[in-house]
Amino acid sequence: MQYLEIKPNQKLSGEVRVSGAKNAALPLLASTILSSSTVNIGNLPNVVDINTLLKLLEMLGSKFEKKTHHIEINTTSINETKATYDIVKTMRASILVLGPLLSRFGHCEVSLPGGCAIGQRPVDLHLKALEQMGANIEIKNGYILATAPNGLQGATIVFDKVTVTGSENIIMAAALAHGETTIINAAKEPEVVQLCEVLKDAGLDISGIGTDTLKIVGTRQKLLEFKKFDVIPDRIEAGTYLCAAAATNSEITITHVNPSHLDSVLAKFEEMGFGIKSTESTITILPAQEIKPVNITTTEYPGFPTDMQAQFMAVAICANGTSIIDEKLFENRFMHVSELIRMGANIHLNGTVATITGTPNKLTGTDVMATDLRASSALIIAALVSNSTTNVHRIYHLDRGYEKLEEKFGNIGANILRKSE
Ligand code: UD1
Repeated sequence: MQYLEIKPNQKLSGEVRVSGAKNAALPLLASTILSSSTVNIGNLPNVVDINTLLKLLEMLGSKFEKKTHHIEINTTSINETKATYDIVKTMRASILVLGPLLSRFGHCEVSLPGGCAIGQRPVDLHLKALEQMGANIEIKNGYILATAPNGLQGATIVFDKVTVTGSENIIMAAALAHGETTIINAAKEPEVVQLCEVLKDAGLDISGIGTDTLKIVGTRQKLLEFKKFDVIPDRIEAGTYLCAAAATNSEITITHVNPSHLDSVLAKFEEMGFGIKSTESTITILPAQEIKPVNITTTEYPGFPTDMQAQFMAVAICANGTSIIDEKLFENRFMHVSELIRMGANIHLNGTVATITGTPNKLTGTDVMATDLRASSALIIAALVSNSTTNVHRIYHLDRGYEKLEEKFGNIGANILRKSE
């Protein structure tokens, strides 16, 4: 298995070019199931999760030609509607095919994703909403069996909780439904917004984009005509490199980013004493005179993203004082804490609240284990500021969502080597 060897005491400088957003590209690829012809997508991130979804779409019968960051995909040849366990178990986001498959074919089978490292993460809200749209849902042998023989019907869906992939699934389900669907308490994440915009450009009558109330007039099973588009920049990848710069108190510039997607994150850097300079597509972080502690509560967009929580914990370790991080979205998203403690961090966990007493310049490198995508990047950030070499194991988590990680870190002066054990 591969691992990353990270040299200690690093200072960073230079530029990082951000890739396309994995969490935008996944629903967008799933949405191509709703297309009447080949869809042309640019700025596709070259990461494992994208290839996993493409493998699933291929197993269903789709055809595509992929270059590194560009794909032409045609789903009109889909002749299979079962997403099997062996693929869904490797990536929860496979659930994103449920809405579009059911909407287009009137039936499908998708393996239940099951648990994952960051908590229980059920899909009950996706299923309840589809039932409200007239689907019959049965759970059998670990599979969701969904049917809607007369097509899905428009309905008013009120999500009890804001769910990102849940909103995306229902938007796609509503696209080809009969009648109007109103989604109340919809997610407003930029990735959801891009899905809506792409579907609108493809001819879908959708309004309320970017708000928590979406109205979609279904096409009565008429497929959409997609226009060529580029995936939006990955705000979480951008935020991760900014955290690496913050922890090492360095100046770096992130390019090809949309700074407005990172407002809540940039505000926290400023609270901690870092300077932030943005243009339309770049963000520069400037060192702090003194790194101050911070209080963070994760919440839905436009609030502070749970996907940045672990990385900020690594920065909080470098602050002078005590920081508090309250993880409101996932009950078990503190898997990085025990590994950070093994590196010498002073972190106390009480339920969903982590109290981090800053111990600047005190971390020591050791062998640590990545547990999920963002937890892994927190370990890399901690390794950059530790006093000895760190080996991060189980890096397949990182490869799911970070493109060319060692190369991008190398470009800003970090010494990270991929090795095999
Ligand atoms: C998406 C992101 C993930 C991010 C998360 C929160 C993708 C592919 N993944 O995950 O990176 O961390 O949003 O921003 O875009 N819930 C239920 N029942 C459901 C659905 C969700 O109880 O049917 C709960 C979840 O357990 C969680 C909360 O709702 O507590 C939000 O989860 P959700 O927004 O659905 O996360 P994902 O879409 O899986």
